[in-house]
Amino acid sequence: MTLREVLAHAEQRARLSSQKHGDLQYVVAASSGWSRSDLLLRLDQPAETGTQAFVEHAAQQLADGCAAEYLTGYTAFCDIVVRVREGIFVPRPETESLVQMAGDFITDQDRPRATVLDLCSGSGAVALALAARLPQVAVVGLELDPISVSCSRESALDLGLSERVRFVQGNVLATWGLALADFRSRTDVIVSNPPYVREQRLFPAHASSPREPVQALYGGTSGMVFYKRIIAQACDWLRPGGLLLLEIDDGLEEAILNLFERYGLQGGRWSPDLRGLPRYAEARRAE
Ligand SMILES: C[S@@+](CC[C@H](N)C(=O)[O-])C[C@H]1O[C@@H](n2cnc3c(N)ncnc32)[C@H](O)[C@@H]1O
Repeated sequence: MTLREVLAHAEQRARLSSQKHGDLQYVVAASSGWSRSDLLLRLDQPAETGTQAFVEHAAQQLADGCAAEYLTGYTAFCDIVVRVREGIFVPRPETESLVQMAGDFITDQDRPRATVLDLCSGSGAVALALAARLPQVAVVGLELDPISVSCSRESALDLGLSERVRFVQGNVLATWGLALADFRSRTDVIVSNPPYVREQRLFPAHASSPREPVQALYGGTSGMVFYKRIIAQACDWLRPGGLLLLEIDDGLEEAILNLFERYGLQGGRWSPDLRGLPRYAEARRAE
């Protein structure tokens, strides 16, 4: 059988939806160490022994709602590759803009050393991408889930960044004090993509990626639980002039700008993602 026939057969057998056709090709290519074009060039060659079983298993996993990244064990984010595994939130392309925004702020400040706090750091993608881009940056990521923490530490080692990027297991909704004591009033940037899906949107959000943990998505009835906590504490941790940068859900922007004002942060504003939806919010501690 050719690889094309193996893929078609596996898709049919697993009743894989046509939207996931590309995911299966991606998984097969990535697991074989090929690029997508390598795979296309091999489609009409005879499939190697063992390929059929692997492709059928992958097709079935994808049909059952497994993210393609869980099958390959990694994902690309900004200029780096980070590890992911089942149970960890897979970083999304729209979050890459947080790295760009934080990086621009730090570069404009022209400081020899910058400290960044990544709250709800998940796979560590934001923290690691920022450190990979800017050699003057040291980052601490705070994350509740121990599997995410160990996965992010492994990625830091892979990338040779563990000297400058540290991941701590902790609860953003509790006191951040002990683990992050050195950062109090000294942080240049607090960046966070916390769980923000509100109750009303939780079912469709989880249905589109059923193997991801609900804990990574759910931000309370109104989606605001994490923002309230983070914004209320931001001024204690930022240095004067430091930046708070958040990924947000559309519809929450007004409530977030109000919280910025209430907790004394200045210059609060939101900006849209590529679809034009409010997706990022930022404010600064007064100088
Ligand atoms: C939307 S995901 C974002 C992960 C990562 N920042 C990214 O952008 O890919 C939210 C993360 O918050 C973590 N989380 C949930 N509750 C938390 C809490 N109370 N304290 C710290 N992290 C928490 C989840 O485990 C998940 O990794």
